[in-house]
Amino acid sequence: MTKEQNDRMEKILSLCKRRGLIFQGSEIYGGLAGTWDYGPLGAELKHNVKNLWWKRFVTDRDDMYGIHSAILMNPRVWEASGHVSGFSDPLVECSKCKRRFRADHLENLDKCPECDGNLSGEKQFNMMFKTNIGATEDGESISYLRPETAGGMFVNFKNVLDSFHPKLPFGLAQIGKAFRNEISPGNFLFRSREFEQMEVEYFVSPENWKHAFEEWRGVMIDWMKEIGLKKEHVFEHEIAEKDLAFYSKRTVDFEFKYPFGREELYGLAYRTDYDLVRHSEYSGIDLTYFDEDQKLHFTPHVIEPSLGVDRTILAILSDAYDEEEVEGEMRVVLRLKPIIAPIQVAVLPLMKKDGLAEKAKEITRELKKNLRLMYDESGSIGKRYRRQDEIGTPFAITVDYDTLKDQTVTIRDRDSMKQERIAINTISSYLSEHFQ
Ligand code: GAP
Repeated sequence: MTKEQNDRMEKILSLCKRRGLIFQGSEIYGGLAGTWDYGPLGAELKHNVKNLWWKRFVTDRDDMYGIHSAILMNPRVWEASGHVSGFSDPLVECSKCKRRFRADHLENLDKCPECDGNLSGEKQFNMMFKTNIGATEDGESISYLRPETAGGMFVNFKNVLDSFHPKLPFGLAQIGKAFRNEISPGNFLFRSREFEQMEVEYFVSPENWKHAFEEWRGVMIDWMKEIGLKKEHVFEHEIAEKDLAFYSKRTVDFEFKYPFGREELYGLAYRTDYDLVRHSEYSGIDLTYFDEDQKLHFTPHVIEPSLGVDRTILAILSDAYDEEEVEGEMRVVLRLKPIIAPIQVAVLPLMKKDGLAEKAKEITRELKKNLRLMYDESGSIGKRYRRQDEIGTPFAITVDYDTLKDQTVTIRDRDSMKQERIAINTISSYLSEHFQ
């Protein structure tokens, strides 16, 4: 990472901590590597992103079924999926300092990058977190924290088929936690050991996979645009055949230009009938689909758009973070889209006295019914604007002495910093017009 890239990451991290977006996991105990905690504003941002995804990928469509499956699953699920035998990264260990590295992240495979000690030969390290179910700790009780949410959808394919009788093509979707014992977590939210995924398993007739692949590629591109990622920072990367995951026949990664460089953001994979066939073999349950028209049983094939929630948040913050000089001072501003901003409108009384605070609270109560709002009366008005700029609030309403006389307020645009005077009873329509 160059110094400039590192500085930008540091600035984003420090803003996240300062303004209550994201904190280091278990911070008061010195932290726990690869974990992050979302504070009040970060939780709100994450919630908005997940809600929007659910709307676009599930409820806006009539061919999608949302589910929420258990994180702990029968260990046979992960034997069938191939994760027990194949979900590993190459690991090397330094004989001197005992640090462990991912072999594919190192340029020199002989010497330790930290202390120059000798590195061991490469071995495979399985990334699933093991745990024991129940009071005994023997081989029989072993289970795993799921390494992807996908498993829950394959295992519930038959349940949804039997209860809703959907016709192909249709898909299952879920949002939830996934866990991976990453050898080297890092780059803030980019690679953590506990993270969230938003995944779709879309079931199609084998001959239709290419069409569905293109359709979902388009949905993902629209999604990235809607959440405000800059087009010039998103790249499609066709994964070479030799590098495909064990379950995939074709994968396109969407890469993003993070402050530390271009890396994977999302994946779109053609998983063939691999999962349903394997789960059928391992469970002994028929997981075929009956096509009424052709009077034919067959195993559907799968297209999988897989999106990491935390990488989404990191990409959003990377593109939204901006600095500019205003009247000789540095202004930090998060240019978040109103649809995902933690706070959409701030209401600020110019003074606490003379009935201004009461009036501002009255406006807050009314607007809160439909918008994400923050009331703030502490500090100078300039400082309050800056605070809202830093957390990405698109609009700030100021209640002043004229408000009491003529029922108007000023409304300030975060990006242009321009202010307009509008009537209180037009605030809602003004905002919905400007939220487009
Ligand atoms: N079901 C397919 C699957 O899990 P993946 O490429 O291993 O595929 C999908 O993961 C997405 O999950 C990635 O594109 C990324 O957004 C996110 N992801 C994967 N590992 C992650 C990690 N250690 N930390 C944060 N996000 C991660």
